[in-house]
Amino acid sequence: MSQSPKYMPGSVDPATYRKALGSFVTGVTVVTTLVGEAPVGTTVSAFSALSLSPPLILVSLARKSETLAHIKRTGFFAVNILSDRQSEIATRFATNAGAGKFDGIVYEHGQNGAPVFSEAGATIECDLEDSFSGGDHEILIGLVRNATIEGSHPPLVYFRGKFEEIAGALPGI
Ligand SMILES: Cc1cc2nc3c(=O)[nH]c(=O)nc-3n(C[C@H](O)[C@H](O)[C@H](O)COP(=O)(O)O)c2cc1C
Repeated sequence: MSQSPKYMPGSVDPATYRKALGSFVTGVTVVTTLVGEAPVGTTVSAFSALSLSPPLILVSLARKSETLAHIKRTGFFAVNILSDRQSEIATRFATNAGAGKFDGIVYEHGQNGAPVFSEAGATIECDLEDSFSGGDHEILIGLVRNATIEGSHPPLVYFRGKFEEIAGALPGI
């Protein structure tokens, strides 16, 4: 039986592929670093635990991301895991607004200097351990140097292109 080239194995329909990826529920993070005295960062859902010992995490950033270029220069970054109070921050950091992204954001410098947000559900500070090519993205491996947990607010959740709140759905939060 002949198949349309569009649906040959390994040639997934792009729109279906995007929708399928969007059906995977994720948390939302803002990945930051410090360039001189200038904070930079971007919204990232492609974050994952990788290893407990040594403590490693990974994030995947588009090759065109300015934040990616900055992290490869500085060699360190922080992952701010957002709470459900921070959807406006997630939206703002998903743009190319440059330094203006941090206007009015309350943050401190973590041990490695990268901005860690007050009210983030948790923060993870990393040295850039390695990076790998992944198509139009790069996979950054972070060696975790410090972590904090705020934890009194439910996490911000992203599903099918929308931010969702799950307050009340999780026991103990
Ligand atoms: C919910 C959400 C999740 C996102 N996740 C990622 C991601 O995992 N990796 C990525 O490269 N971009 C992701 N983006 C898009 C970037 O935030 C966006 O392209 C941003 O403008 C890049 O900024 P920069 O060039 O200053 O780094 C996401 C956007 C949103 C709204």
